[in-house]
Amino acid sequence: MGINSKPVVFAVISAAVILVGTVVTVFIPLFMPSTQPVSPYVKPYTAIELEGRDLYMREGCNNCHTQTVRPLRTEVLRYGEYSKLEEFAYDRPFLWGSRRTGPDLARIGGKYPDSWHYSHMESPQRLFQQSNMPPYAWMSKNRLDTSNSFKKTSVLGYGYSETDVKNQIDGFRSTVTSESYASKESRDQVTPAGLRSELTEMDAIIAYLQKLGRDVKNMEAAK
Ligand code: HEC
Repeated sequence: MGINSKPVVFAVISAAVILVGTVVTVFIPLFMPSTQPVSPYVKPYTAIELEGRDLYMREGCNNCHTQTVRPLRTEVLRYGEYSKLEEFAYDRPFLWGSRRTGPDLARIGGKYPDSWHYSHMESPQRLFQQSNMPPYAWMSKNRLDTSNSFKKTSVLGYGYSETDVKNQIDGFRSTVTSESYASKESRDQVTPAGLRSELTEMDAIIAYLQKLGRDVKNMEAAK
């Protein structure tokens, strides 16, 4: 009598085989350092950039924008260096996306000045008449809520102290509200007078966009 006529034994043995296969191919690699590369260039998000990232998810930007450049010639020519594993070390959850109604944003950081983003976010159609990206003008009318910023960075294990987070927020506020801020004019245009000396959701999402791909661009420049 072969094993085929003993259903219980057959089930137990096949479960064991599948279990071993799963452990070897899934769980062991999960804890191998080579599957989790780290790069000294790729830095965690600041508290503000992380707030911007949360807003990006809240607004569903990832339904229209991907954040991964595939290693294909056409993509590299259009967007820049293809995406590397280590770039996503601090992304939880990752926002690769699967639909490109709008262009990929993995290399958007540094492509335009902040002023461009203030105008574009306020009204994409003002810059590109045909754009089907919705306007996000209200984001500059909403004060940025930073009451949970420290908690968020600590849950994600970024290693900032409460003072670090406070300094990041204060530092960023003084940059964007300063008289010498390069994009002051565009920021003032979209921000109501009462909020110009404070941080808005728009400031945070733009800080986040400017971070995307910046570490890799620095890494390429240093080569
Ligand atoms: C309905 C789809 C859609 C949604 C939702 C959407 N976008 Fe867009 N986005 C587009 C399209 C289409 C373009 C190209 C035309 C343009 O620049 O307006 C674009 C362009 C952009 C660009 C310029 C890219 C470049 O390389 O020139 C940025 C930055 C951007 N979007 C950010 C965002 C952010 C941030 C959000 C969420 C707050 C968002 N988008 C939501 C469709 C969308």
